[in-house]
Amino acid sequence: MSYYKHHVFFCLNQRENGEASCMQHAAQDGFAHCKARVKSEGLAGPGGVRVNKAGCLDRCAGGPVAVVYPEGVWYTYVDQHDIDEIVESHLKNGRPVERLMLAPDVGR
Ligand code: FES
Repeated sequence: MSYYKHHVFFCLNQRENGEASCMQHAAQDGFAHCKARVKSEGLAGPGGVRVNKAGCLDRCAGGPVAVVYPEGVWYTYVDQHDIDEIVESHLKNGRPVERLMLAPDVGR
């Protein structure tokens, strides 16, 4: 059994050279909102959910992106409602949110 039931990584990479990066698409807000929701829902901690910052995950074209392990489910999100749905459906009830999944061929 893994230490966390779900471990979520949000790309917070910021590029200054004009190339696309997740921080151009409100990734910081998504990360902060997810962390707050996981805490307020009582999901945070060992045996529960951990939300971490990450650098570039090399799937920038779909940004902003986040990935949930151990399932390896990749998401792209637009706003806090999307994050709420991921927390409620996937992290709380174990049902990944198909409508927010990143297409398998999206890369950098
Ligand atoms: S900048 Fe976010 S995946 Fe590359």
